[in-house]
Amino acid sequence: MFNCWIWIFILLCRRSIADENSTRDADIFPSSPEIERGSTLKLFCVLGKHYTPHRNASHIIWKLNRELIAQENYKIVNETVSSITISNFTHSKAHVKCFIKYLGKEQLLVHTEVKSGFPPGTPRNISCIYDVDIKLTCNWASGRETNLATSYTLYRKM
Ligand SMILES: *[C@@H]1O[C@H](CO)[C@@H](O)[C@H](O)[C@H]1NC(C)=O
Ligand SMILES: *[C@@H]1O[C@H](CO)[C@@H](O)[C@H](O)[C@H]1NC(C)=O
Ligand SMILES: *[C@@H]1O[C@H](CO)[C@@H](O)[C@H](O)[C@H]1NC(C)=O
Ligand SMILES: *[C@@H]1O[C@H](CO)[C@@H](O)[C@H](O)[C@H]1NC(C)=O
Ligand SMILES: *[C@@H]1O[C@H](CO)[C@@H](O)[C@H](O)[C@H]1NC(C)=O
Repeated sequence: MFNCWIWIFILLCRRSIADENSTRDADIFPSSPEIERGSTLKLFCVLGKHYTPHRNASHIIWKLNRELIAQENYKIVNETVSSITISNFTHSKAHVKCFIKYLGKEQLLVHTEVKSGFPPGTPRNISCIYDVDIKLTCNWASGRETNLATSYTLYRKM
């Protein structure tokens, strides 16, 4: 009897792993976007297949952190896709969440983190130390605090 329960448990687990993708509630894209502070954020929420035909994109609501985003910012692209447009996005970091609201109940479908920052300025005060045939070490001051992951590429002319 005990063995039997273990087997049922294992089978249920396997099933949920295998079904993970096919029953995804929804997708949000772009995922984890990084945008310029004060620019316009646009995101899309795509409903998974198992919601249609009873529920469609008109049942999607959006939240910024915990705040409901006003309906006038939503656009129903088609039956399965709803988009959100937020102009002048000034949060340095926020969570945007896509819910389905049906018969008065809200269910979280998918969310993503959005970061905003500034373009990097020109790096200043570059100095390099060259240990002949060993290594080249360079330092510089970043041009501006960006709030975003920034990569600098240094070209060395021979
Ligand atoms: C689910 O999808 C992701 C990416 O699309 C993939 O890497 C992963 O292997 C898939 N998992 C299953 C259980 O199919
Ligand atoms: C909805 O629109 C998206 C993006 O334009 C498209 O990829 C998708 O196939 C459309 N879905 C339906 C059901 O028309
Ligand atoms: C979405 O569903 C509602 C009813 O729940 C229906 O009135 C509406 O026409 C549907 N919209 C689309 C785009 O299918
Ligand atoms: C954007 O929002 C910031 C802070 O809320 C405000 O100071 C600024 O005037 C706004 N800019 C525009 C173009 O609306
Ligand atoms: C760059 O170097 C100049 C002169 O050495 C110095 O005055 C300035 O503070 C430095 N700037 C930064 C951002 O380190």
